[in-house]
Amino acid sequence: MRVYLDHNATTPPRQEVVDAMTRVLRESWGNPSSTHAEGAAARAAVERARTQVADLLGCAVGEVVFTAGATEANNTALLGVLAGRAPTHVVSSAVEHPSVEASLEALEARGWRVSRVAVDADGRVDAADVAAACEPDTALVSLIWANNETGALQPVEAVAQFTSERGILLHSDATQRIGKLPVDLSLVPAQLLSLSAHKLGGPKGIGALVVRGGLEFEPRMHGGPQEQRRRGGTENVAGIVGLGVACELARAELPQRAQQYAARRDQLWEGIRAKVPRVRRNAHPEAVLPNTLNLEFENTAGELLLQALDLEGVSASAGAACASGSIEASPVLLAMGRTPEQARGSLRFSVGAGVDAEQIDFVLSRLPDLVARARSAGDV
Ligand SMILES: Cc1ncc(COP(=O)(O)O)c(C=O)c1O
Repeated sequence: MRVYLDHNATTPPRQEVVDAMTRVLRESWGNPSSTHAEGAAARAAVERARTQVADLLGCAVGEVVFTAGATEANNTALLGVLAGRAPTHVVSSAVEHPSVEASLEALEARGWRVSRVAVDADGRVDAADVAAACEPDTALVSLIWANNETGALQPVEAVAQFTSERGILLHSDATQRIGKLPVDLSLVPAQLLSLSAHKLGGPKGIGALVVRGGLEFEPRMHGGPQEQRRRGGTENVAGIVGLGVACELARAELPQRAQQYAARRDQLWEGIRAKVPRVRRNAHPEAVLPNTLNLEFENTAGELLLQALDLEGVSASAGAACASGSIEASPVLLAMGRTPEQARGSLRFSVGAGVDAEQIDFVLSRLPDLVARARSAGDV
């Protein structure tokens, strides 16, 4: 049996997505910029998908700009929007995805001041700390809505209230939240939102940046008139269609999905808690994605446990990565106050579509023994 518990890394594309993409590749392969019938068919497919994305997110259709994924969306939100401005100040958090953190560093190299708000032991920022970090010349706040490693949810709604009152732009990387919990931009006055299809049952290499209220930015891709001159290059029509279908499925299934994911995640957590000693959760159980369980196995070589799980048929992911022969602890876990050893013993399990109770029972039947072995073999 294989049990895939790494849905925060990527999700298997849904069958409906594969079918729609296949159809488009076969039948609507025209260039959406062409004015003939083939072009018009491709254009219609792109615009239908744009509506599907906007309907899921509660924004206007014209506010959806397709990108090659969330990395590009995050880069565009930070570097594109701030490109033409004299450097001032940006506020973000200590637990952003590397594509935001690297963009912040690029801004710093251009003379911008960046404040990274600290998180508590559960990986959450306090909205009041974000407000306090804002200065009179703060141009933009960028806050990840749900963390990819821990699933910790940030108070984006509360932050949006004061950024809009103070005329500060708000960007949120909502990549991990979308498709798992509601995101309704008609209620949250954020100007910029990033997403990626492959985190919600869509294909890789496609995503979107929602740009609201006619906010102007310098495109990251200079070229043709595509995306109303906001992103040059012939559209990835099949990918866009896949994203659209994934969003439509998410919209229809969201209420059940959150419950189903939480049921499997909680089954796993209760089982581990009952069977494995010295385990703690890296996140607050009330402020976390319904599908994510990040656990610290005390005194455990996480990389060995991960390998052993893989050999048994279980895919998860680690809180520390092996970089050039040494173990590099996750900056997110370090920002939460964990030691490098604690980060090393941390594993992320993320459930999703297709994970059932039987699979979780299978994981629970193997895990206690594997943890015991990783503890004795790990030399930690
Ligand atoms: C929170 C978050 N932001 C951004 C990304 C990058 O997305 P993409 O793979 O589409 O570039 C990911 C996925 O790795 C993510 O989890």
